[in-house]
Amino acid sequence: MSIGSPLDVREPAADWWRQAAIYQIYPRSFADSNGDGIGDLRGIIGKIPYLVALGIDAVWLSPFYPSALADGGYDVDDYRDVDPRLGTLQDFDELVAGLHAANIRLIVDIVPNHSSDRHDWFREALGSPRGSAARDRYIFRDGVGPLKSEPPTDWVSMFGGSTWEPVGDGQFYFHLFAREQPDLNWANNEVRADFLETLRFWSDRGVDGFRVDVAHGLAKDFTEPLPTFEQLGSARTTAEGNHPYWDREELTEIYAEWRAVFNEYNPPRIAVAEAWVEPHRRHRYAAPTSLGQAFNFDLLRANFDAAEFREIVTRNDVFAKETGSSNTWVLDNHDVVRHATRYGLPKDDSEEGDELVQAWLLSRGVEPVEDHQAGLRRAKAATLFVLGLPGSAYLYQGEELGLREVADIPDSQRQDPAFFRNPGVDAGRDGCRVPLPWVADAPAFGFDATGSGRAHLPQPSWFRDYSVDVQESDDASTLALYRVALELRRALRSGEMLTWLDAGSDDLLIFERPGGWIVATNFAERPQALPEALVGMVAVLSSDSGRARDGAIDAETTLWFRRE
Ligand code: GLC
Ligand code: CA
Repeated sequence: MSIGSPLDVREPAADWWRQAAIYQIYPRSFADSNGDGIGDLRGIIGKIPYLVALGIDAVWLSPFYPSALADGGYDVDDYRDVDPRLGTLQDFDELVAGLHAANIRLIVDIVPNHSSDRHDWFREALGSPRGSAARDRYIFRDGVGPLKSEPPTDWVSMFGGSTWEPVGDGQFYFHLFAREQPDLNWANNEVRADFLETLRFWSDRGVDGFRVDVAHGLAKDFTEPLPTFEQLGSARTTAEGNHPYWDREELTEIYAEWRAVFNEYNPPRIAVAEAWVEPHRRHRYAAPTSLGQAFNFDLLRANFDAAEFREIVTRNDVFAKETGSSNTWVLDNHDVVRHATRYGLPKDDSEEGDELVQAWLLSRGVEPVEDHQAGLRRAKAATLFVLGLPGSAYLYQGEELGLREVADIPDSQRQDPAFFRNPGVDAGRDGCRVPLPWVADAPAFGFDATGSGRAHLPQPSWFRDYSVDVQESDDASTLALYRVALELRRALRSGEMLTWLDAGSDDLLIFERPGGWIVATNFAERPQALPEALVGMVAVLSSDSGRARDGAIDAETTLWFRRE
């Protein structure tokens, strides 16, 4: 099928996203075609057969735009071009055509909350006086104190340090993230119009949709008097639409404008919001009049625990129905500790804390408590559970290989600003962004196709056993499991219904999907008796070597059954 035709004839094209398996590519770490140690677009093109064999419906491509990489590409110099280190616009067109020819859609990351400090607009702003039109595209404020040398507020940025950076003339600019990422002013019409043009630019080039970075941050209201950081509460907390920078009501209008642009296309372009908001406010991003879908990150903070998983599924099912969108499931992405590591850590039952915190500590070299085997076993069980659910499954490169976090990157080789701005506190996110191992016995494990052996982050020796070629020749590998599961999932997603079956145990979750598909997960460390109805049924798929035997399901295992 070529561009524009439906992915799967059983699904109407406009709805392709509702239950899609979407695979996130972090381009600089996926595959390097020219031996400079940085993954690139031609590297991805060369791996299209791999993506086809994996069985995904779409790729989400993290930023590939020109960037100084102050934040892994989320500091964009030019929204309508390709980083020359990653390729050219022509390569991009070829990638779109190649993916579409393989029935794979492409959604690209868009970063509207902030540009980079090398963006033409920001340079112009710095060279222009206070009060100028150029400064109005960003958020400039006068400093306070007798010399105007103090920042306007004591707010702390997401990567640590002040949200305000002085520019030397008594003014400061606002940045929620790194200082190289000045926040754009979304009350400015030129900013709004320019992003609509960017959406059209990529849509015209054939992209099928957008992942919207920090979708909950664009609108700001800094009317004085401004609260202190303490008064704002924890930085991720959003109030009911009146927080000065998170989750504000004005976003509704901004995304309605975007929606109008998406609907100019056939099929309409899709969008998924990265919005770390209170779950009951997620609909503001997921509604069909808005971006259409929003990530549900609840599982990133959950233990491998039946009660937690069930609560999350039930809650999100309600939200999805309320919004008219579909559910989204995320176990991994480029911002979090890989789930094979999270589940290898002891459970964390603290109120605020979550396993991530422990994992961050772990990756700082604190005595490892990680149980690799258990971590991977639970990770695979969780993956099969999630792939059985109605909704879109967002997968992150490398999880299909069972990769865990690379914990021991030397400080001198780290890249993430989250690490540099929080010395000794936050290891940053480099550990899940290490270049993929493709070939066990090649330099850089085949990440670089030329044999130069370069990789922009160091790969650990254990990557050898996880490389694609090793796993391709092993039917029991994690990769083989993902491939079979994604293939079966195409049949399983015939409707968006889910019915819980009585499992007869608190550690067991069992649900049924239309078409007689049954997903059973045992979260306990010991076997659990299966309910009568499932005894004697032969599983179609198991997350591990675990099985159903003697009327029980093995420890920490997910099984897929299908009624005759
Ligand atoms: C999002 C991205 C993250 C980035 C941040 C700032 O959270 O996923 O990687 O650092 O936005 O753009
Ligand atoms: Ca390269």
